Amino acid sequence: MHQKLTDAARQVLEEEFHSSPGEISWRRPQDPTHGDSTTVVALQLAKTLKKNPLEIAEKIAAKMRTLSDVEKAEVAGPGYVNIWFHPQVLLKELARTRTAATAKVSRKGPPVIMEYSQPNIAKPLGIHHILSTVVGQVLTNMHRHQGDNVLAWNYLGDWGTQFGKLAVAYKKWGGTKPASSLSLDELLALYVRFHEEAEKNEALEDEARATFRKLEQGDQELRAFWSAVVEITKKSLNVVYERLHVSFDLDLGESFYEDKMETVLEEGKKKGVFKEGEKGSWIVEFPEESNMPPYLVQKGDGATLYSTRDLAQMRYRIDTYHPQAIYIVTDIAQKLHFEQLEATCKQLGWELPTFENILFGRMRFADQKMSTRKGNILKLEEVLDEAVRRADKMIEEHGDAIQTDDRPALAEMIGTGALVYGIVSQNRKMDIVFDWDRMLSLDGNSAPYLQYTHARAKSVLRKAEFNEDDDSETPSIDTLTEKERLLLNTLLQFEGVVKDACSEHMPHILAQYLFELCQCYNAFYNSEPILKAEGEKRLLRLRLTSQTASVLRVGAELLTIRVPDRM
Ligand code: ARG
Repeated sequence: MHQKLTDAARQVLEEEFHSSPGEISWRRPQDPTHGDSTTVVALQLAKTLKKNPLEIAEKIAAKMRTLSDVEKAEVAGPGYVNIWFHPQVLLKELARTRTAATAKVSRKGPPVIMEYSQPNIAKPLGIHHILSTVVGQVLTNMHRHQGDNVLAWNYLGDWGTQFGKLAVAYKKWGGTKPASSLSLDELLALYVRFHEEAEKNEALEDEARATFRKLEQGDQELRAFWSAVVEITKKSLNVVYERLHVSFDLDLGESFYEDKMETVLEEGKKKGVFKEGEKGSWIVEFPEESNMPPYLVQKGDGATLYSTRDLAQMRYRIDTYHPQAIYIVTDIAQKLHFEQLEATCKQLGWELPTFENILFGRMRFADQKMSTRKGNILKLEEVLDEAVRRADKMIEEHGDAIQTDDRPALAEMIGTGALVYGIVSQNRKMDIVFDWDRMLSLDGNSAPYLQYTHARAKSVLRKAEFNEDDDSETPSIDTLTEKERLLLNTLLQFEGVVKDACSEHMPHILAQYLFELCQCYNAFYNSEPILKAEGEKRLLRLRLTSQTASVLRVGAELLTIRVPDRM
């Protein structure tokens, strides 16, 4: 859409100023009344050309006015050139993006490994798990949308001394129930009991370590217990994942690397990267300026650690998948661990693909009651249920304003959507604030608002009996109202926004855009008659409505949220 403008601008600059700038960039003006597109090239060149930027800008604007694609061109401020496209140009572009959005993307090339969720098993998911789980799924969805071949990976914490503890607790207090019939809550209770008892009786910790060693050495009974626990956990995880529209290609957890650590340990020792630490342990040291403490990779008793498994995991992923990138989504608390891990890989001389530990901040609760619940964890499933209950109440309170023929399904969609949107609409690098009122508001930056706007657009299309699939003809329109133009421009931004949100790994960029699109559509809806418009205007407005609905749907789904056709 901008190529002709760029070519023409180059031509003037060459003819009038004997200048050929490297790149001429166009962007959307902050204030939509400043046109569809603007360039600062005149300001950029003024210094080297020793000219007044306004003079350069005027020449460019004059040239722009001669182009058939351009409806209006103005010079503004110290030397911006603002452009208004002819409506036909914008409409053709809209049709083009619509076709591009529905075209099947072929995912090829070396994979992008996206690791997220990674709960430790034998415990139900806690509310904080929603962060890694949902942020990771959104990034997976966005990379796929960009055509990347993503391997969604759940790295379960299914190994380590905590299993020794659990096995000891089960033997002592588990009663007669076979392990396979235990619930996750019962497993959690056993684990909690272990810690209570261990405070009084230190010998229990030793027993747990010894039991884990036995498990590592292949004790059959313990292995069976471990498998049962893994199965129980996975089953109950899947229930929550399904409600959140989260899914994985692989769930190879820490236990998978059990037999892959020895070679890494040997390599590190042989290369002199792993050095003997205290009491026979092995550590990695880093240069002083890095400010990183030593990294423990093997304990004095020969036991491996979280770090050892992550080293083996890196090696395995690189050798097996030759990925173009490895992304690991975690809490900020793990930052140092991954910095040490990456530095260790480099010391080992491993060639790493693009690697990033995608961090998110801590969760804070607006509701005091939630943050002060002591002892037991605040379970994600219970919070989801609570969100659905609140959504159901909201539906009821709105009476006829919210209509549905399947209220439980709508409540589930709104409740889970509200919770997820409440997370992904915040800058992940900051603390994430959990606030029921904000999440469930019908007219704020929330899932219900987005869902409502989608349903509103769909309702218009139904009333008009509009065939959304038929976009064969571009409405022949010569003038656009301000609201139409703004909506059109906003719709055109979608693909660029997804691209930015994906490359920066920032879901809230997309959420913010969808919120603005909703505001823009609602302003248009409230001021421009759609069904009562005639001829080409009606076609235009219905086309804008249909495109809004589809961008909202696709965008929401990238954020793992579903939108209703009616509400
Ligand atoms: N399971 C770990 C935890 O809950 C997170 C795993 C992060 N990923 C990794 N490759 N270490 O703390």
